[in-house]
Amino acid sequence: MSDYKTIAPSLLSADFVNLERDIKRLEEAGADWLHIDVMDGHFVPNLTIGPPVLKAIKTVTTLPCDVHLMIENPGRWVDAYCDAGADYLTVHVEATRHLHRILQHIRGRGIKAGVSLNPHTPLSSIEEVLSDVDLILIMSVNPGFGGQSFIPNTINKLKRLKKMLSEKGINDVKIEVDGGVKLENIGEIAKAGADVFVSGSGILKQENWKEVIAEMKRL
Ligand code: DX5
Ligand code: ZN
Repeated sequence: MSDYKTIAPSLLSADFVNLERDIKRLEEAGADWLHIDVMDGHFVPNLTIGPPVLKAIKTVTTLPCDVHLMIENPGRWVDAYCDAGADYLTVHVEATRHLHRILQHIRGRGIKAGVSLNPHTPLSSIEEVLSDVDLILIMSVNPGFGGQSFIPNTINKLKRLKKMLSEKGINDVKIEVDGGVKLENIGEIAKAGADVFVSGSGILKQENWKEVIAEMKRL
């Protein structure tokens, strides 16, 4: 998209007992967005954050909340997460039969709509909705857990997505990458065309968050 790169730390790696403290630390460390991973125990083998927790998070931060729904039938929950204050709301293409309807609904609520693809899901699955999204989230690990290794083929997928968007003259959709992003690989991921970098353990499990985020932005 633009030259501006966004760092979105994932709260999945935060200390849930001290969520407010960690959010403040991330703000002070230079985070651009907060990435919030929602899991239902069905679409992925893990359970996390519900709408009341998002609503609580919104009371202690002004950072945009980038909500990643890893849940089956996301359409059932879109309104609840919009009401709770999501700024970006992303659903998985694999989780719904009615992707277009859901994306339209999210935009209709005045919120940025995102679509996400698992590592095995081809780019062709979103070709018909490119003008209906504000963000495309490319999973670079299998969703469900933090701390996994970046899948190398993602680089190639990002380059092909970038090319696909520019060939269609689409330049207002952000490309986001999620999973295994850290200092060692962020430069290469940026070159491949990503605009938004989600990082959980790559930031929150490190000693000095401010230094890591500054270095990520530099790279
Ligand atoms: C994985 C989540 C990610 C996760 C990333 O299912 O979607 O957002 O928190 O964590 P790291 O950066 O540790 O791979
Ligand atoms: Zn995520």
